[in-house]
This record gives sequence, C-alpha cells and structure tokens, in this order.
Amino acid sequence: MIVVFGANGMLGRELMALAGPAARGLTRAEIDLADPSSAPEKWLEGASAVINATAYTKVDAAETETAVNHRMNAEVPGELARACQAAGVRFLHFSTDYVFPGTATKPIPEDAECEPINAYGAAKRLGEEAVLGTGGHVMRTSWLFGAHGPCFPKTMLRLAKERGALRVVADQVGCPTAAADLASVALRYLQNPPPGPQMLHAVGPEAMDWCTFAGRCLSAFRAVSPGDLGEVPIDGIRTEEFPTPAMRPAYSVLATTRLDALGLTPMRPLEQSLRDFWRQTNSPS
Ligand SMILES: NC(=O)c1ccc[n+]([C@@H]2O[C@H](COP(=O)([O-])OP(=O)(O)OC[C@H]3O[C@@H](n4cnc5c(N)ncnc54)[C@H](OP(=O)(O)O)[C@@H]3O)[C@@H](O)[C@H]2O)c1
Repeated sequence: MIVVFGANGMLGRELMALAGPAARGLTRAEIDLADPSSAPEKWLEGASAVINATAYTKVDAAETETAVNHRMNAEVPGELARACQAAGVRFLHFSTDYVFPGTATKPIPEDAECEPINAYGAAKRLGEEAVLGTGGHVMRTSWLFGAHGPCFPKTMLRLAKERGALRVVADQVGCPTAAADLASVALRYLQNPPPGPQMLHAVGPEAMDWCTFAGRCLSAFRAVSPGDLGEVPIDGIRTEEFPTPAMRPAYSVLATTRLDALGLTPMRPLEQSLRDFWRQTNSPS
C-alpha cells in the first residue's frame, strides 16, 4: 500500500486517482503536519511506500509567512523521511525549480549547485537535504497545473474572459508540467526505484516562456470547448512590469536525465496534457 500525505492537493488528488485502491490518502483533517506532535509514524503501518504531496505552496506569501514556510517545506519532509527510514519504507518527496537562481542558459542537471531564488525555494532546499540525508527520493518539478486547485491555465482563462486581452511575462522560461503526468511518473518510479538517496527532475517535455504558455493554454481550451472563447490578444511583458513579492527565475528548465535513463520520460506532449486538463476542469477559477 502507498500512503499519500497531502491527498487533497493538486498533485495529491492525481496520485490518488491514478493509484486507486493501492493508495491510502491522508488529508490535513486526519493529520496536521504543521503540528510538531502530529506523529506521522502511526500512519505507516502496512505501507510499502510513502509519498509526501504536502507543502506550503504560497510562494509570494512565503516571503513573510516564514514560520509555516519553514515548518512545512524544510522540517516536515525530514520528519516524514526519518519515520520512513525507521519503518524501512520507501519515501518520495517533491521539490521545485526555485532551488536554483535562474541564471542557467541550458537545461539544469539534477546535481547542479543550488542557490534558492526566494524564501520558498530556500525552505524547499532544506527539505530536499533532509530527505536525501535519510536515503529518500526527491522529484523536482515546475510550473504544475492540474484540475484540482488554482493554477496558471485557469487564471489565464478567467482573465481572458474578464478582460478580453492578456499581458503575460515573456522573459521567464520553464517547463509546464501536468500534475496528472507527474503523478504517473511518480507512481511508475516507485514500482522499482534505484536505491536511495536519489534526486530526480520530473517536468513536462517542452520549455517555453509564460506568455507562450498562456497562448497554448487558451488554444487547447478552444479545442475542447469550441465557441466558448474568441481570439484574445496576448502581449508579452517584462518581469519588471509584473512585480511580485518573491523573485522568479529567468530560466529554470530542468534536465530530466535520470528519469530518461530509467525510461520514465518524456511526459505526454503539452497539447495532449492541456486538453485532458481542460476536459477535467469543471469550474475554472
Ligand atoms: N504548484 C506548482 O507549480 C509547483 C511547482 C514546483 C513544485 N511543486 C511542489 O509539488 C508538490 C505538490 O504541490 P501542489 O501544487 O500539489 O500543492 P497544493 O495543491 O498546494 O497541495 C498541498 C497539500 O498540502 C497540504 N497541506 C498543507 N499544509 C498542511 C498541513 N499542515 N498538514 C497536512 N497537510 C497540509 C494541503 O492541504 P489542504 O488541502 O488542507 O490545504 C494540500 O492538500 C509540493 O511539494 C510543491 O512544493 C509545486
């Protein structure tokens, strides 16, 4: 049995849907991991593997919400990893491209030096180190979108409908990743993983800027909902024109070399993932 912490999150919901009866999902209602006395080990009985899909994912708020960011992203992964190590259970955790500074000019290998670009990335890096230090497995991903939760494609559709035109950052490049595709890779990886510790990069197959991604999101939406959205002009803007509390990387394309070698990548083409995502998404927010 696979135990999934964070079963109600965007990725967690996809993991649960794909794993079916082979998984037991835990939500915050059952265990609040922000509470240091939450004792995750009591949920590990009968587990063959544990996946941590919990995180504090409010990247901008993390700049000031330092306690919860540190607790959820730096401390909890290590606690879960240690509980799994003690129980002899495989542990898989997720991390982010924000552990890198964004200055690379070609796809970033799994063993590249980290220099987190913001407070969220710094806490996630501490979480990575703790998991690797106890023999766990870490998958870094980026630009996640999924039917269950707020995400960039839903925001673009809402704004396109409200405003009839979009202005989107065009000087940050990364890899959009469908939560459903990441869940599939993660579950297949756990069937026969190499011995830990392991750092993996798991991202969608295409690199692009946010402005291009916005266009791809709307085209895919039109393809699955013909007549629901007319042509929407999309202007590319510079990062300085869209200031955010947390810095974002200019370039954070992750090389998936290790998963490629295991035959677990590439993920599906973006067009296909986006169309499935729109079909799944009932109420864009
Ligand atoms: N989203 C992205 O673009 C992105 C990019 C790169 C990496 N990642 C990483 O990918 C992983 C999955 O992200 P996601 O987008 O699926 O996140 P998400 O939708 O925000 O889900 C996070 C889950 O963690 C749970 N959680 C938060 N605090 C908790 C607590 N104190 N106790 C128990 N559960 C708690 C949440 O529960 P509630 O439902 O009760 O709030 C939620 O179900 C994370 O490690 C994230 O850092 C995400």
